[in-house]
Amino acid sequence: MIPTVLPTYNRAPLAFIKGEGSWLLAEDGRRYLDLGAGIAVNALGHAHPELVQALTDQAAKLWHVSNIYIIPEQQLLADMLVDRTFADSVFFTNSGTEAAELAIKMARKFHFDAGQPDRSEIIAFEGAFHGRSTGAIAAAGSEKMVKGFGPLMPGFTHLKWPGNDQGHDAIRAAITNQTCAVMIEPIQGEGGIRMVPVQCLKGLRDLCDSTGTLLIFDEVQCGMGRTGRLFAHEWAGVSPDIMMVAKGIGGGFPLGAVLATERAASGMTAGTHGSTYGGNPLGCAVGAKVTGIVSDPAFLAEVARKAALFRQGLESLVARHPQVFEAVRGEGLMLGLKCKPAPGDVVKAGYAAGVLTVAAADNVLRLLPALNIPDEDIAEALTRLDQAASTLHQTA
Ligand SMILES: Cc1ncc(COP(=O)(O)O)c(C=O)c1O
Repeated sequence: MIPTVLPTYNRAPLAFIKGEGSWLLAEDGRRYLDLGAGIAVNALGHAHPELVQALTDQAAKLWHVSNIYIIPEQQLLADMLVDRTFADSVFFTNSGTEAAELAIKMARKFHFDAGQPDRSEIIAFEGAFHGRSTGAIAAAGSEKMVKGFGPLMPGFTHLKWPGNDQGHDAIRAAITNQTCAVMIEPIQGEGGIRMVPVQCLKGLRDLCDSTGTLLIFDEVQCGMGRTGRLFAHEWAGVSPDIMMVAKGIGGGFPLGAVLATERAASGMTAGTHGSTYGGNPLGCAVGAKVTGIVSDPAFLAEVARKAALFRQGLESLVARHPQVFEAVRGEGLMLGLKCKPAPGDVVKAGYAAGVLTVAAADNVLRLLPALNIPDEDIAEALTRLDQAASTLHQTA
């Protein structure tokens, strides 16, 4: 008999009843150190007092009004994002996949309005993940996500991950007079914490500029302070035309956004897009609080300091357990451990040791802790990961 909850997830046999900072309390009374943070969602940990306050204050005032009215909390958050980024304008969604939908629509509409309706093709990359809507799965294009769901939305070209010179040449060769945009995660999350080299992001920007192609960055996972900059692309000193944001921006409340330059957004006039819940007062009140906290340069410097501390510990972990781990990768607190066994087995060993991590493609274990994880919890995380790794080579 089919479960009452549609069985689309491979769930771990764990149910949590309370969260505090980097810790989760399970139904059976065990405490787990959370290095997954809801897959990069709980940017400030669980039950952060300022976020709880922002949410409950807003809940006592007003939960929902339609986007047919002005929503002051939305206006405030949009102003904050515009003030802190390349963007001139923001549309709010409830999720990353909805942000992908709008990014695709916005890019196509831009060229349509410029009198080039044939420029509808979007270049995306192997290993990418942009969400689970039909547009987002067509964009990512992996067999695992698209099989059985055809016919897929046309208009996507898939290239190999562009981590080297050949990758760059391949992008150059793939851009034609029908190319609308290039869509890329500066650091692939689901794809296994794979970083696009800074040189490549710069080259991509140049290529897009010289061909009139729009550049879309998907910073749903790597954005909102995760790498020690507000957005990961800032490390490369280039900015996109359109950017997708979600996960961390709501700190656990469902919220996403598309940020764009005035030029890229020029086609999105009244009536061209909308959402019932996107940009609701609750989400935006929390989002403004998160954005205020994580964009503070002192907070970002702390993320970088904690990341260096964690990384150093992870390097020794790799050295101590060469049968289990091969290398550390990533930037800031978006870290990956390349594993020798299947990462799912390492995740399970972590459950037994009371530490939560997340598997990704490319045999990688993801570590995406709260950005404000205390130093003592980093030390405890390393101890628990060490325990988990030890049990794995005992059984190997
Ligand atoms: C890079 C990236 N883009 C888009 C998405 C989709 O976001 P959501 O699950 O909120 O729809 C995700 C989710 O994991 C993601 O990591």
